[in-house]
Amino acid sequence: MVVEMHAGLASDGGSKLKMLLTFVDALPNGNEEGIYYSIDLGGTNFRVLRVEVGAGSVIINQKVEHQPIPEELTKGTTEDLFNFVALALKSFLEREDDQDVKRALGFTFSFPVRQNSVSSGSLIRWTKGFSIEDTVGKDVAQCLNDALARCGLNVRVTALVNDTVGTLALGHYYDEDTVAAVIIGSGTNACYIERTDAIIKCQGLLTNSGGMVVNMEWGNFWSSHLPRTLYDISLDDETQNRNDQGFEKMISGMYLGEIARLVLHRMAQESDVFGDAADSLSNPFILSTPFLAAIREDDSPDLSEVRRVLQEHLKIPDAPLKTRRLVVKVCDIVTRRAARLAAAGIVGILKKLGRDGSGGVASTSSSSGGRARGQQPRRTVVAIEGGLYQGYPVLREYLDEALVEILGEEVARSVTLRVTEDGSGIGAALLAAVHSSNSQQQVPI
Ligand code: BGC
Repeated sequence: MVVEMHAGLASDGGSKLKMLLTFVDALPNGNEEGIYYSIDLGGTNFRVLRVEVGAGSVIINQKVEHQPIPEELTKGTTEDLFNFVALALKSFLEREDDQDVKRALGFTFSFPVRQNSVSSGSLIRWTKGFSIEDTVGKDVAQCLNDALARCGLNVRVTALVNDTVGTLALGHYYDEDTVAAVIIGSGTNACYIERTDAIIKCQGLLTNSGGMVVNMEWGNFWSSHLPRTLYDISLDDETQNRNDQGFEKMISGMYLGEIARLVLHRMAQESDVFGDAADSLSNPFILSTPFLAAIREDDSPDLSEVRRVLQEHLKIPDAPLKTRRLVVKVCDIVTRRAARLAAAGIVGILKKLGRDGSGGVASTSSSSGGRARGQQPRRTVVAIEGGLYQGYPVLREYLDEALVEILGEEVARSVTLRVTEDGSGIGAALLAAVHSSNSQQQVPI
């Protein structure tokens, strides 16, 4: 991971890790004041938020409205998707009785974007099952601005951010030791604060702070060291973005259930563990990740929840206890691998920042956090969120366990994974505050 991070920072196309510039060189520090809005367009969910902040890291009020994105919009046209988003904001503002006020708007767009500035950037490609071809290459902030104008709203995007960046912003708002953020939800990704002089591919990049948040797009990480199985290859073949997002396909919520389904399907074909009633196992994506989690977390002595999921969702009635145990084992292995790979990725970032306790790699600057022999490791906070991480305690346990295993207990104690709630959206509103023209709150990171 560290080698690929260096390669991605050295040149565009130097690695499958894109290491994208975000132009975010100042993070909220708690002095922001006012009312800000944001839109969070991610994988399965879509949110509109209103955040009222007061000095001293106080969120006075926050309102979050969730809406599922209709499946057909993820495969339709750019205009339809952005009209849907703009109309949702419009009706939200109408209910707030706030539609005439010019407000700063944060736009969280959780897909790989090549940014030209903090408020503009073009879509590199879709992930997580979205496939609207005509959006690729377009400035997505402009697409939203156009849609906002079409529905008569006097609001424009002030900050266009990835969900990892929003999460980092909220994490940093509460705790200045927050240096990175990770999402483990439908997709997976991470961002962190890099020194501008280490971003070799952008010579002469100057920021007031000497730092910039880099969106790694680690979902696309690949290495011959990754333990790729036959099931990973079959899964990849089923997706619209073949040969891409390899790391994501081993870790995130969109895929874990399907990996387990592929394993169970092969077991059904090569043995009689499921009897004759296993036809449904040949349906791609029939076992969703929430069901995989429910199976793994069933701690009843007779595995009654496993029986229910098999019966109701996979149409496999009467699987004996022994078979149910086997199913739990498969779900466990898939979960454990995902958690351990994510933990390894986090250690990669810590290593790059010189905060993994080895004192090596990036310890050329004092701010990088490397420690001299005998010193206490420096406190490091990683903001983390995402439906899979937040909703699946077993995955969290495995991830924590792996962090301790790799870092050792002493260094692991200095690393806090801090869960933020709706950070991707609230953080975007805070970044809109930081980057709005009337704001004097910019504080270097
Ligand atoms: C996207 C990232 C995003 C991540 C988590 C990935 O599929 O490429 O931009 O941060 O999902 O939502």
